[in-house]
Amino acid sequence: MEKLLIFVFVFTLSLFSVISHSHTAFNVLNYGAVGSGRTDDTHAFSRAWEATCMSSSSSTTMDVPSGKTFLINYLHFHGPCNKKSINIEINGNIIAPSEPSEWRCENNDCHNWMDFRHVDNLSIRGNGVITGDGDKWWHTSELHSRPNALKISSANNVTLSGLTFKDIPHMHVILDSLTSVHVSNITIDSPGDSPNTDGIHITGSTNVVVDHCRIGTGDDCISIVSGTSNVKISNIVCGPGHGISVGSLGKNGNHDIVENVEVSNVVFIRTMNGARIKTWQGGSGFARNMVFEKILSHESSRIIDIDQFYCDHMHCVTQESALKVSNITFRQILGTSSKHTAVNLECSSSVPCTDIVLDDIYIVQNDKQRASVACNNAYGRVQGMNVPDIRCLNQM
Ligand SMILES: *[C@@H]1O[C@H](CO)[C@@H](O)[C@H](O)[C@H]1NC(C)=O
Ligand SMILES: *[C@@H]1O[C@H](CO)[C@@H](O)[C@H](O)[C@H]1NC(C)=O
Ligand SMILES: *[C@@H]1O[C@H](CO)[C@@H](O)[C@H](O)[C@H]1NC(C)=O
Ligand SMILES: *[C@@H]1O[C@H](CO)[C@@H](O)[C@H](O)[C@H]1NC(C)=O
Repeated sequence: MEKLLIFVFVFTLSLFSVISHSHTAFNVLNYGAVGSGRTDDTHAFSRAWEATCMSSSSSTTMDVPSGKTFLINYLHFHGPCNKKSINIEINGNIIAPSEPSEWRCENNDCHNWMDFRHVDNLSIRGNGVITGDGDKWWHTSELHSRPNALKISSANNVTLSGLTFKDIPHMHVILDSLTSVHVSNITIDSPGDSPNTDGIHITGSTNVVVDHCRIGTGDDCISIVSGTSNVKISNIVCGPGHGISVGSLGKNGNHDIVENVEVSNVVFIRTMNGARIKTWQGGSGFARNMVFEKILSHESSRIIDIDQFYCDHMHCVTQESALKVSNITFRQILGTSSKHTAVNLECSSSVPCTDIVLDDIYIVQNDKQRASVACNNAYGRVQGMNVPDIRCLNQM
């Protein structure tokens, strides 16, 4: 009996030690971070990251504690770390160097403020606010020199939640070459006149879920570009901004593909575009199998927008080739529009848009006038409510 008790005791102890060793936390304060908002804590964060990634535990957390403000310069979080889970818990606030000249780029790899690469099973969460002092950059510096806030690339199984991103010099969040990624409950807050500040930019990724986010910015709230498939976006408030866009695709003759995109339960507040697909002339590939549904617009323009003549400068030459746009459904899209054109389907004559379905559309102009519709080379059908009267779609 005594032996049995001792055995149970020792067994329990060793079990506890296994459990406690399987997860380890690394607090940036233990690696020299100060969190005063004035001392540069970049080096301390780097050391805490190395410990978090290199630890022998199968599950680790890097803690950025609440109640402090950390001044951070360019920071790399590179793997692989080979863990069942690796968590970054950000409850403190993070601020950028206050002047563009104070950003230090040490290895010529400085497009991204916080750059996560090759880190599988990664979760980044917390209620921290990440502020970029973008107003110092937006109207004075060249686009390619402006840092994006957070880029996560080349990984499987990533989640991002809770954080707020504010006034970022370039894009807020970039998801690049990821498989299985879930972004939820994040807030993006930059002014409507901040140039090229996409909220969430998704490229080369598959199995992407974005939900319950509030995004206000000066460019696309969410942009989905080449090599991306199986995307579900829901419960988003977007505005100011340029809507939720597939594209731009096909720039400089590129072969681009995006497919299987579902966007639902979105509110557009005073956005420049709403549910949008934009492609350049001269490209190839396709944008297909998409549904945009349950969308409410408050004083937005071009709420439904397919543009195969996208051109972000004054003059683009006419070209025959184009990406194929097909099987796109816009369903239950209601609300008010600010400019005359509420529905815009501008497709190429050489590669028309096909299988375009408009189902239950009810959009009125602010002043209760009829919003207007433009279509060219768009084939498909209209069903259900049809306000403004969409007659320009060609029958299949
Ligand atoms: C990620 O987690 C899964 C499930 O726990 C595990 O099978 C896989 O090996 C992990 N990936 C890495 C790189 O450790
Ligand atoms: C994804 O990562 C989380 C930890 O962030 C882990 O718990 C989960 O098992 C992983 N899932 C897969 C399918 O690897
Ligand atoms: C969303 O994030 C905030 C922190 O930014 C947190 O307080 C809140 O609990 C989160 N909500 C959910 C549903 O996770
Ligand atoms: C059209 O797209 C929808 C949504 O992605 C998809 O479920 C459906 O199978 C597609 N139809 C065809 C004919 O590919």
